[in-house]
Amino acid sequence: IKADDKAVGTWVAQYIAKRINDFKPTADRPFVLGLATGSTPIPTYQALIELHKAGKVSFAHVVTFNMDEYVGLPQSHPESYYSFMWRHLFDHIDVKKEQVHILNGNASDLAKECADYEQKIRDFGGMELIIGGIGIDGHIAFNEPGSSLTSRTRKQPLLHETRVANSRFFDNDISKVPTHALTMGVATVTDSREVLLLVTGHNKAEALARIVEGAVSHWWTASVLQMHNHALILCDESACDRL
Ligand code: GLP
Repeated sequence: IKADDKAVGTWVAQYIAKRINDFKPTADRPFVLGLATGSTPIPTYQALIELHKAGKVSFAHVVTFNMDEYVGLPQSHPESYYSFMWRHLFDHIDVKKEQVHILNGNASDLAKECADYEQKIRDFGGMELIIGGIGIDGHIAFNEPGSSLTSRTRKQPLLHETRVANSRFFDNDISKVPTHALTMGVATVTDSREVLLLVTGHNKAEALARIVEGAVSHWWTASVLQMHNHALILCDESACDRL
C-alpha cells in the first residue's frame, strides 16, 4: 500500500526495470512483458520513461503483449489501445514495432486473431510478468463479471457500466464507446509467471475489497489472483477504504 497513485507508479516502474535488468535474455527468449491500458498504469509508464531516459533500463530485449483492444475502433483513433500505448509509452522508449503486440480489433477473422495471439505468447515462452488494473466491477483486462476463470483470448461484449465508465474518453457519449473488445482471457493473464495488479483511487475500493477479501469468483474476475503463486497487488491508500 502506497500513499498515492504516483508512488504506486514509481514503485512498479522500478520493479519492472529490476526484473528486466535481472533477466538473462537469449536470441529466442526475450523478456515477455504483459501491459495494460487505462488511467491506472499511466504513472507507471511515466516513471518507466524517466528510468529509460536516465539510462537505468533498456527495452531492447523485451517483447510486449497488451491485454486487450476495442473491436471496430480504427487503430488510428486516439482512444484505441494501440494509440494509447504508443502515446503513453512506446514512443518514448527503445522498442521497435516488431517488439510490440496488440490485438487487432479490426481483423477480418477475430477468432483467428485471438488464437494466433495466444500462440505468439506461447512461442516466446510465455509471459514473465504482466501488469494490469481493474474495472470498478473487478474485471481484469476486459474479462467482465461472469467470464470463466479458465477463459482464453476472445471477443467479449462490454457491460453497460464499463461503457459508461469509459465514455469519459469518448466525449462522454456512450454511443461512441465500442460495444465489444478482444481481450486476453483470465487464464491467459494467470499463465504469466508473475502478475502485478495496480489498484488506485477510491472508486476501486469496493472492487479491491471483493477481490482480496471475497471468494474467488467469476463475478469478480481479478479475485482469481488469490490462487496465483506469484501475484502482487499494489494499491494506494484511497483504494483501501473498504478493506
Ligand atoms: C478498461 C481496461 C482495463 C482497465 C480498466 C480500468 O476496462 N480494459 O484493463 O483495468 O479499464 O481503467 P482505469 O485504470 O482507467 O480505471
